Amino acid sequence: METIEQKKRVFSAIKPTGNPTLGNYIGTMSRWGGMCDEFDCLFSVADLHAITVAIEPKELRENTKRLFALLVAVGVDPDKNVVFLQSHVRAHAELCWLLNNYTMFGEARRMTQFKEKSEKAPENVNVGLFDYPVLMAADILLYQADYVPVGDDQVQHVELCRNIAQRFNGRYSPTFTIPECKLAKTGARIYSLADPTAKMGKSDGDDSGTVYILDRPDDIMRKFKRAVTDSDTHVIASDDKPGITNLLTIYAAVTDATVENAEKEFSNSNYADFKLRVGEAVVERLRPVREKYEALRRDDGSLLELMRAGAQKAERIAARTLEKVYKKVGFVRL
Ligand code: TRP
Repeated sequence: METIEQKKRVFSAIKPTGNPTLGNYIGTMSRWGGMCDEFDCLFSVADLHAITVAIEPKELRENTKRLFALLVAVGVDPDKNVVFLQSHVRAHAELCWLLNNYTMFGEARRMTQFKEKSEKAPENVNVGLFDYPVLMAADILLYQADYVPVGDDQVQHVELCRNIAQRFNGRYSPTFTIPECKLAKTGARIYSLADPTAKMGKSDGDDSGTVYILDRPDDIMRKFKRAVTDSDTHVIASDDKPGITNLLTIYAAVTDATVENAEKEFSNSNYADFKLRVGEAVVERLRPVREKYEALRRDDGSLLELMRAGAQKAERIAARTLEKVYKKVGFVRL
């Protein structure tokens, strides 16, 4: 008898805060598009998470549409993946409430990101910020995800998710798949062009070192021309050459090459030429993304239709999990 192997499921999400950068593209978004051959993938725009820090309604709305359209533009095909907004599937908030009761205050309080964000905005240490990782657990567990592709700053949250799931499964009976992190390959971390020791930020302050996915070609070229290097002259990657290493990482990522091959390619180049070539490679890589994005944003109605279709697919899976959970907990079902 022929057996049809069930694909493992992947879930990930990205918050619509700030303007997505080349760092988001290389580290996260560009990886998602290629996963659907091997996995059954769901990708969400985590708009519910976005309000844990202060954000204007207009900004939230625009950021959300932009991010959704960008996900499609970078290659997450809505016919082959489930792409949707978190707030369109009510089960996320419902399961979050439920999981709150299986999450200990002490373990949530230990979350590094909560501590960091609290320090950064002491005037707005709200309960949503504290609950952020529980909502994230709900995102993942609703879809019975096997793998969660995230950056290393989210590993602790996925750990917490596993603990919550195990606690629930132990208290009742096996209900949730226990998810595993799927860490991006090394070299995926992109640093600021102006300060190659700091992560390329998506929203903080000065943006001379930040390339946005939707930047115009001349802005991209200007930023690369001004990229900080060092007083040496050799284009090689090493710990004491963070600027050059970052540029090589970017070049390798956008040309689908290895850093070693990129080093060879530029072994006879000076820094100025090298920076130009990296800028040009980035411009060429992002050009079709921007064109696709602009086409998607020309017609709001079609964009909303894509969102609706994604939400309906997600909703079907989420509803099944939530119903199971409600029954186990002892809620009276109609
Ligand atoms: N917190 C994640 C981040 O900042 C985004 C996110 C929300 C997420 N829900 C998720 C990631 C569920 C993975 C799974 O990057």
